[in-house]
Amino acid sequence: MESGWDWHSAKALLEWQIELGATEAIGETPIDRTVMPERPPAQSAPAIQAAAPQATGDPVEAARAAAAGARDLPSLRAALDAFDLCDLKRGARSLVFADGTPGARVMIIGEAPGRDEDIQGKPFVGRAGQLLDRMLGAIGLDRSAQDDPARAVYITNVLPWRPPQNRDPSPEEIAMFLPFLERHVALAAPRAIVLMGNISCQAVLRRRGITRLRGTWTEALGRPVLPMFHPAYLLRQPHAKREAWADLLSLKVRLRKIADA
Ligand code: URA
Repeated sequence: MESGWDWHSAKALLEWQIELGATEAIGETPIDRTVMPERPPAQSAPAIQAAAPQATGDPVEAARAAAAGARDLPSLRAALDAFDLCDLKRGARSLVFADGTPGARVMIIGEAPGRDEDIQGKPFVGRAGQLLDRMLGAIGLDRSAQDDPARAVYITNVLPWRPPQNRDPSPEEIAMFLPFLERHVALAAPRAIVLMGNISCQAVLRRRGITRLRGTWTEALGRPVLPMFHPAYLLRQPHAKREAWADLLSLKVRLRKIADA
């Protein structure tokens, strides 16, 4: 903002731009985020502990050490926030860690935040997320049902930072964040996991080919795992909702068995 503006004029100008539909603050000169200075390290104790092994240079080793040091979900979140070896962090606005109820019987693992998730700092809040909520609702699950174990669900992604232009995460990025995801699953301790789409199958099962994988329960990370079509795919290919519905029913049956056990 030019120095000639007083506070009230600047506020009025900003409100006028919002009224015109501006949703982002963009300067007159482009910012090359690839050469932005490093963010200062986070100050919390777990973050400082987590940052130390990053000097080793091997990002996967550093991620493993940082994740292993997290004793609970808040310290895992802090460790992820302090993890500076992934360039995605410099281009993203928010760390997208999780939503829903930690400890819920079912944990959903998606791919990576998109634009809406990056803005709100929560997974699956855009169009695909709204479809996911409707899919979960159809079998009685609800991410906001914190106090009802029968309906609670916990949601995260393989990557906590938005990739530019929503491109697919690279194999290196997936490998770097896998130790955090494994620790996340261990700490959230779900009784069943749903892998949404190819990227989460690639990370957790080391396999792609969601059309073949979907609908068949398997075991990974010490728990039953169900691959499903990603809701973003279902938005593009509505005919695949039939299979998705069959998979949701399979999940419902599995969760009922878990509750009865
Ligand atoms: N797609 C995902 O896989 N995760 C999100 O959080 C949003 C869209």
